[in-house]
Amino acid sequence: MQIDFHSHILPAADHGSDSLETSLAQVALAGEFGIDLMIATPHFYPRYDAVNTFLDRRAECSRVLMQALPEQSPRILIGAEVQLCRNLDRMEELKELCVRGTEVLLLELPANFSLRSHEQTMEGLLFGRKLKVVLAHIDRYDTSTIDFLLDMGCYAQLNASAFCHFRGRSRALQWAAGDRVVALGSDIHGTRVGYKELAQAKKRLGKDYDRIMSRTQQLLGL
Ligand SMILES: [Fe+2]
Repeated sequence: MQIDFHSHILPAADHGSDSLETSLAQVALAGEFGIDLMIATPHFYPRYDAVNTFLDRRAECSRVLMQALPEQSPRILIGAEVQLCRNLDRMEELKELCVRGTEVLLLELPANFSLRSHEQTMEGLLFGRKLKVVLAHIDRYDTSTIDFLLDMGCYAQLNASAFCHFRGRSRALQWAAGDRVVALGSDIHGTRVGYKELAQAKKRLGKDYDRIMSRTQQLLGL
């Protein structure tokens, strides 16, 4: 089973897709590549957006997409890419931001991330709320920060693009060979790149690609 864990495919939910037409083209590209399941992960920025406004927008955008999906399309599960902010662990609606039907939260680190100011919130998410926190595209951050968070108990997602450039590729392959990387993502925005990067990542990863896909399945309880 091939799972795209990180995708911006809900029409007008964020800058990933400007229209239903774009969203349908994105899903079609995923289907052609052989994706069975996509997690739709629109951006949620708690500092700029009220959670209820986000949830209403996401519900409407997903309704529009689901109604128009051709029969043979990959299955779509609703989630979110939630940007970390201080005290996020105290947000009542947190469960609704997890991948639907799970306690799996895709968490994006903010530009101003520091262990000192966010450690307490991370502890709250992991041990207070007992969520399975998956750090989005760990390939974008410095190694020591990520390794610290993985040691705390976070899981990790890598973007396909991490395997496509010489810079950072060996680090991504090393992470992928370990057991904390539980998901891969196209992080698709628009239709320009599509699934070309994921195809390259699949080639580079070899058996690790299938191992990561099995871990995603396990994580989601599928
Ligand atoms: Fe993203």
